[in-house]
Amino acid sequence: MNIGIDKIGFYTPKDYIDIVELAKARDVDPNKFTIGIGQDKQAVPRPYEDAVTMAASSADSILTEADKASLGLLIVGTESSVDESKSTAAFLMDLLELPEDIRSFEIKQACYGATAGLQTAYDFVSQNPDKKALVITTDIARYGIKTPGEVTQGAGSVAMIVSQNPRVLKLNYKSVYMTKNVGDFWRPTFSKTAFARGKYSNEIYVDFFKTLWEKYQTKYSATIDDFSTLLFHIPYTKMGTKALRTLEGKIPDDKYAELTEHYQQSIKFSREVGNLYTGSLYLGLLSYLINGARSGEELLMFSYGSGAVGELYSAEIQKDFASGIVSENVLKMLNERKKMSISDYEKIYQIEYQNGTIVDPEAVESKFYLSEIKDNERLYKKNK
Ligand code: CAA
Repeated sequence: MNIGIDKIGFYTPKDYIDIVELAKARDVDPNKFTIGIGQDKQAVPRPYEDAVTMAASSADSILTEADKASLGLLIVGTESSVDESKSTAAFLMDLLELPEDIRSFEIKQACYGATAGLQTAYDFVSQNPDKKALVITTDIARYGIKTPGEVTQGAGSVAMIVSQNPRVLKLNYKSVYMTKNVGDFWRPTFSKTAFARGKYSNEIYVDFFKTLWEKYQTKYSATIDDFSTLLFHIPYTKMGTKALRTLEGKIPDDKYAELTEHYQQSIKFSREVGNLYTGSLYLGLLSYLINGARSGEELLMFSYGSGAVGELYSAEIQKDFASGIVSENVLKMLNERKKMSISDYEKIYQIEYQNGTIVDPEAVESKFYLSEIKDNERLYKKNK
């Protein structure tokens, strides 16, 4: 039975900051941010947006009534959850009007969470072929104003419906993975912003890729010629570039040129949005599907979550992949965003809603929003 991604939806906030303006405000050479880090814009969420509202938006963009009726599993991968107990998935039941005979939960393992969700969804569908699973990545990447990590922030959500006979991507169920206890990135429960040993994280990420690629070749007698595209976890686009470069000189030049060209197509959206943490690999997939993909292509996907877990798995682009992604909507959403000044971004960044906050619906620009915090409980609404 073929199982994989049948549809992909995406959401990113309506505001962004320009990375050149950020560089100037921080007295940094803009080339460092645009070339050295590899970013152009960064999504800025409003205070009434969070992991729940963004997840609702990305899923809402693809779910039909028929999908809802056949859903049996809902998994949210996030490291930006709003509650230590209740899962982001449970909040979505009302917002998305889902039927209650669904198994739902949240997975946390830094940026790896969604890949864990996807593999779990594969197993679920293989046991329940008439059912579908919804896997959502949703995160707000925050390092803090004027920190080295500020340029690698971002926000957004990717939703994927997993089913048999998928339209977009068949998961080949060929996969290698590894876990090591590593202190490259962490966010203690008291902190809204992440702590990172950025350069160390880069090294671990590249080491994981090299190790997993060796393992993959051995386990499946694979060679680079089996793949036309490598997709990477791209918290900022230079990071994937570093992993890709480990192949330079080790594979034929024309193959390296092909992989590099496809990699450039896969990072277009990340350059526009920034870091999605769990969604970074899957935004790369969406970018590649819209900007370069051909049906029948074999992809190799590298998922990495600090702390650290890595997985390298293969997948095949399906004949009707374009029918599972509404490209016009994705491009419209990206193009219609508004540029925010650096000073407005800094002001918005400081706002943190407290218990008792009631949000004025007239000031809300997103479809789903945090409407109130009452008795320390976060309450959400959908704009009609
Ligand atoms: N023109 C062009 N390039 C320039 C330049 C200029 N004027 N000035 C500098 N550069 C280049 C540098 O040469 C360097 O390139 P290389 O990496 O190829 O050597 C690059 O710009 C960055 O320069 P620095 O290393 O000096 O930059 P920095 O000290 O400010 O740190 C960073 C950069 C380490 C990425 C920092 O932004 C950071 O720590 N970000 C957070 C990183 C992070 O979170 N890592 C975890 C990722 S894994 C993950 O996603 C986590 C998860 O699971 C949740």
